[in-house]
Amino acid sequence: MGARPNFVKIAPILNIYKKNNSDYVLVHTGQHYDKNMSDDFFADLSMPKPDYFLGVGSGTHASQTAKIMIKFEEICLKTRPKLVVVPGDVNSTLACALVCSKLHIPIAHVEAGLRSFDKKMPEEINRVLTDRISDILFVTEKSGLVNLDKEGISSDKIHFVGNTMIDSLVKYLDRATSLKEWENSSLTKNNYCLLTMHRPSNVDDVKNIEKVFDVIKFFSDEINFILPAHPRLKKTITSLDPSRPENLLIINPLPYIKFLSLLYGARIVVTDSGGVQEESTFLKIPCITLRENTERPVTIDHGTNHLTGLNIKLITKTFDNILKGNFKTSRKIKFWDGNSSQKIYEILEGYQA
Ligand code: UD1
Repeated sequence: MGARPNFVKIAPILNIYKKNNSDYVLVHTGQHYDKNMSDDFFADLSMPKPDYFLGVGSGTHASQTAKIMIKFEEICLKTRPKLVVVPGDVNSTLACALVCSKLHIPIAHVEAGLRSFDKKMPEEINRVLTDRISDILFVTEKSGLVNLDKEGISSDKIHFVGNTMIDSLVKYLDRATSLKEWENSSLTKNNYCLLTMHRPSNVDDVKNIEKVFDVIKFFSDEINFILPAHPRLKKTITSLDPSRPENLLIINPLPYIKFLSLLYGARIVVTDSGGVQEESTFLKIPCITLRENTERPVTIDHGTNHLTGLNIKLITKTFDNILKGNFKTSRKIKFWDGNSSQKIYEILEGYQA
């Protein structure tokens, strides 16, 4: 694993390995390396220190992926794992999977089968290729089963187990709610909007940030916004200095439980993250997703999610409707119940190559 969302997806599986004294080697590629993007998550999620830290850091897609491959291959050759588990859709996921496929080490992919059908997203390339070379595919929602079937992946390899990110949420929700993180920013529960933005297509161009800021200004008489800013967004805001709305508080990225607390207390969530779409659906909080598509359609069909892209009129209209109480509520989603990691553990332990 290597990036912030990976930690949340892997921690509950790792905790079952620890509880059962089963053998594992933990590798952190170092794709995310800031304290608040990495170490704080390890602490919150009670994760052990990685056995190997590759320290690859930031770079272009090719150089980041290549650096991970070179260093991860050395570890595989040294430790000769029975199988390798990779979560999610980040560059670390694909890089490690590629290494294993060439060394004939079985690969298990946690969060397989999701598809946005948008090849401009690096994550989509990472997902499709990782699934193609994986031996065990753990699926979070039904759309994943349909997608993998269409791609001709044998059903023997596929296991519909649910969502390990929800396992983490279920485990830490009580702590998150009692933390009342909104109070630290002088906000009132159920009376603020939580905003997150980090996708290159949204945050690398300051015009897109200005569009979202205009929406925030439009609702200045009605609601305050809080934005824990990803380093990529911070870079654009610092260098290009868009005019900031008065009803927007920009803070540093938060550790997992504090973020969960802020999410739990929010009236509305506006995001371009994958995981936040799922978490807000589980918590029944209305969510506006600043993307044209989602690889997590269950959050639209069964959940609280609305896709708006960066269409200002649509964002404003949807936001206004939600403020007026016209929003979707979510239904129960199959296997999003806190037990997915246990199922994964049992399948991995029983696996014979
Ligand atoms: C990566 C994932 C994305 C995931 C996101 C979660 C890929 C292709 N993208 O995007 O799917 O949703 O993580 O956050 O793998 N940076 C820091 N400190 C850090 C990490 C990053 O300052 O600890 C800065 C660097 O300037 C870097 C930029 O953020 O250039 C982007 O980081 P990178 O890991 O390349 O991708 P993310 O945008 O975080």
